[in-house]
Amino acid sequence: MRVYRTLLGIVLLASAAPTVLLGVLLARERGGLDAVAIAAIGASAGLAAALSGLAARRITRPISQCVRGALEIARGRFGHQVRVTARNEIGDLAYTFNHMSRELASYDAENRRLIAALERGYLETIRSLASAIDAKDPYTRGHAERVAALAVELGRELGLSGERLAALEYAGLLHDVGKIGIPDAILAKASPLTREEMALVQAHPRIGAEIVGGVAFLAGAVPAIRGHHERWDGDGYPDRLAGEAIPLAARIVSAADTWDACTSERPYQRALAPSEAARVVATLRGTQLDPTVHGALMAILRRRGILEPGASSAA
Ligand SMILES: [Fe+2]
Repeated sequence: MRVYRTLLGIVLLASAAPTVLLGVLLARERGGLDAVAIAAIGASAGLAAALSGLAARRITRPISQCVRGALEIARGRFGHQVRVTARNEIGDLAYTFNHMSRELASYDAENRRLIAALERGYLETIRSLASAIDAKDPYTRGHAERVAALAVELGRELGLSGERLAALEYAGLLHDVGKIGIPDAILAKASPLTREEMALVQAHPRIGAEIVGGVAFLAGAVPAIRGHHERWDGDGYPDRLAGEAIPLAARIVSAADTWDACTSERPYQRALAPSEAARVVATLRGTQLDPTVHGALMAILRRRGILEPGASSAA
């Protein structure tokens, strides 16, 4: 607007000045001006003002469009085009701006494609690692994938999005990565574990968090990996956290892990039918499981048609 006002002033002064000067000279020579002369001078000055406005607008409008376009790009809306048809230096500026904007959009799309490919690569590597851990125990084959899928669904149900859902997926896949050092015989043991064996098994969330903690890309998954065996009542491990002191992602992975454990064949139990598993899980609400996360799990099961509306939502 400042450029517009400056231009308007300059053009107006340049175009109206001769008319005003002519009026002054005429008035001196004739000792005054008649109505026709005043009307002619007024009309001329008015026309000069209108043309000045038009000229100033014609110059500043394309500049304003370029400025608005630059702001759109600054906001990350690459590819924004300005509509300037002027065949002068300003038109050249707009043409260059549009070209730059298209190039930026193209680089942005390429970057997004590369990042997506990189993330897919990471995910595939993590999946391979998770299935290698699952393969140690014939009873847990596919467990990590199912826990990851259910954890993401629970996260969505609880209103999480973006990076928090991605962290849930990684945590679901890697929650038992710390079992990598536990002998297969202990993992597959159907009889009660000895004190030493139990200590070894209970170290897996801490070991898993240490393994994953060294990978910057997986930093968001660490709290859930470390905390997936904590209990809402504080009787879990390794840190004996309780209630909301347990990270939400850990409470979510814990619920998904528990559900999958109930509905899968294990050395110490047969796979429960979904309605039976829902009854078992309901008994854990408020003791092992966060009541809110349990509620979200029930909502998902009802939506899947596994549970009747209103069934088994409480112990
Ligand atoms: Fe675990």
